[in-house]
Formats: sequence, C-alpha cells, structure tokens
Amino acid sequence: MNPLKRLGLRRTPVTSLLAAAVLVATGTAAAVPDTTPRASTLGAQAAQSGRYFGTAVAAGKLGDGTYTGILGREFNSVTPENEMKWDATEPSRGSFNFGPADQIVNGATARGQRVRGHTLVWHSQLPGWVSSIRDANTLRGVMNHHITTVMNRYKGRIHSWDVVNEAFADGPSGQLRSSVFRDVLGDGFIEQAFRTARSTDPAAKLCYNDYNIENWNDAKTQGAYRMVRDFKARGVPIDCVGLQAHFGAGGPPASFQTTLSNFAALGVDVQITELDIAQASPTAYANTVRACMNVARCTGITVWGIRDSDSWRSGENPLLFDRNGNKKPAYNAVLTALGGTPAATRRAP
Ligand code: G3I
Repeated sequence: MNPLKRLGLRRTPVTSLLAAAVLVATGTAAAVPDTTPRASTLGAQAAQSGRYFGTAVAAGKLGDGTYTGILGREFNSVTPENEMKWDATEPSRGSFNFGPADQIVNGATARGQRVRGHTLVWHSQLPGWVSSIRDANTLRGVMNHHITTVMNRYKGRIHSWDVVNEAFADGPSGQLRSSVFRDVLGDGFIEQAFRTARSTDPAAKLCYNDYNIENWNDAKTQGAYRMVRDFKARGVPIDCVGLQAHFGAGGPPASFQTTLSNFAALGVDVQITELDIAQASPTAYANTVRACMNVARCTGITVWGIRDSDSWRSGENPLLFDRNGNKKPAYNAVLTALGGTPAATRRAP
C-alpha cells in the first residue's frame, strides 16, 4: 500500500513528509525543525517572497496614533487613497496642490515604505474644469501637463503609477466607458497617457488599474486583456495591471488565479491594488492571497484601508483590523497564506 495513502497524505510538501517520517518513527507528533524564517507582520512576510503588502492611506488620519502604529508595523507599501487624484492635485487649471500627497509620500519614505501612485487619469474625482473641455487639442495638452507635473513631483519615489484608472465600461460591451477623455480624444487617450508617463518617469512601473476585471469570463476583463495584449504587441509602454479586488462576501471568483496568470503571460506584472471583502471572511482573504502567491508575476497586494472604520465600505467591515485596531481572523489567514505564522499560534522552536 502506498505509505502516503496509509498516512492519509496526498500531494504533500517535503516538510510534511519529514514530519510524517518522524511521526512513524517515534509515534509522536514531535516538532520538525522548520528552518524557513517566518515573519510576524504582513509586509515582512510578503517581502520573503519578493512581494510587497500595502495599504491605502488617508492623510487626514496620520495624526491618529493607533492608525500610524499599525501602518508602520504591518505594511511596506502605501497608496494615497484620495490625495493624488486630479481634484486634489490640480483643482483649477495649472494650479497644483501637493500638500496632502507630500505628507503621505514623506511619511512613507521616512518609514521605508514604497509608494503606489493613484491615479493620473480617471473620469471620477475629476474637477469640473476638465470635464467641461470639448476641444481635443486643449484636453490633450491639459492631460499631458497634468501627468508630467504630478509625476515629476514624485519622480524616483513611486514604484508603480496607476496611469489610467477604470476606463472600461461595466456590463457586456467590453468597450471603454464614456468619459470626457474617451469622448473628446477617442480610445487613443489611454495610449497617449502611457506614452507621456513613460517619457516623464522611465523608472516607474506604469499600470492600468480597474475593478471587476477579476473574473476571467467577464466582458470587461476581456476588454482590458485585449487592450494590454494590443499595447504589448505594438510597443506601447505598459508594465502592470492593477486588479482592484473589491469583493463581495464570497471573495474572489473561481477564475481569479487564471485571470492573474493570463494577464501575466502577456508580459506584465499584476498587482492586487484595492483589496477589501465584505465581512472579511478568512477563507475569502486566504483564497485571494493564495491566487497571488501562485502567480510569479503577482508582485504585491494592497488592502484598501487599515481598520474597518477607515474603509469606504465601513458598513461591511471588509478589512483586516477592527475599529479598535485589533487584528481580525482574516489577518491571520492572510499572514498564513503569505507563508507566515500568526504570533498567537506559533509553536516554540
Ligand atoms: O474631501 C471632501 C471633504 O472636503 C468633505 O468635507 C467631505 C464630505 O463628504 O468629502 C470629502 O471628499 C470625500 C473623499 O472621499 C475624501 O474623503 C468624498 O466625499 C468621497 O466620495 C471620497 O470617496 C473616495 C472614493 O474613492 C471617491 O470615488 C474614497 O475615500 C476612496 O476610498 C475611493 O477609492 C476608490 C479608488 O480611488 C478607485 N477604485 C474604487 C475605490 C472605491 O470607490
């Protein structure tokens, strides 16, 4: 009889086989020395596989000690939640305000965290002076000026930029959504934005970021995939796809890992950029993290806020820390899925 079957083991990793051997030899579940270093925070554990684990940060919360305590302890990447958006950085034409974004970037640098830039071109949180432009040359000039000014401000300090955010329509069309950019400049506005971004900061990774592109079979996913494939085929500069991952209580769709691998196979990195899950089921979080860990080019995960009370969907308690800053069960599930061992359950060596 197959000894593995006798032990009830299937597709078992080497460490477990060693454990089984000890079990057979001694009749006890003696601890096998596990030489893999385990970290006790999300960022440090993600770093062991060359990934980052980040969070969205709001400048207005940086005076809250509980918030900054968790921020500094757990995360090695941050994304400004609203402070780099167009309405915050260029509320009127040619007049830029970088105060709140600077606060986040400077704080992150001081803590040794990387920064994701979010976002340069988006139809939402767009000031009225931009959305009312009807002339293509004017809008192209305004868009390029916005991209170059914001990127130059943070040149060398942003690891990835969401150059264009949420350009595809929901529903079955698989086409771009109507927006001032699409309607005035045509579909080519995305390519234009990426080319301008590359020439401004050649060292930054340039991402296309969207929600509801996690299910491989969705028309929206297919639309984004076709665009990235076309960009790679024609040499339009793009380095990464951000999948926001705002999930319902069930977590990721069954095809999530397939979607990540299929984008990655086009020659781009993939990143989970805005993760939150209604009710924060540990299983749903673990499934999401595992999908990323199983794809070599999935380079990092960002959760969209720290405590439930910080979330844009706070009524659904979708994050890893409760409103008092305590770790929730999903936290341990994520740490374990990243390859770590939750502190409370770690055995003595
Ligand atoms: O800044 C004003 C403040 O002056 C005013 O007093 C207050 C009153 O409501 O509103 C403040 O603006 C709010 C802003 O967040 C900053 O706090 C807006 O009302 C509010 O709508 C805005 O929500 C943000 C939302 O994007 C806007 O689209 C959320 O915080 C932010 O988490 C969310 O993030 C987006 C990503 O950027 C893109 N993907 C989806 C994701 C969730 O919607």
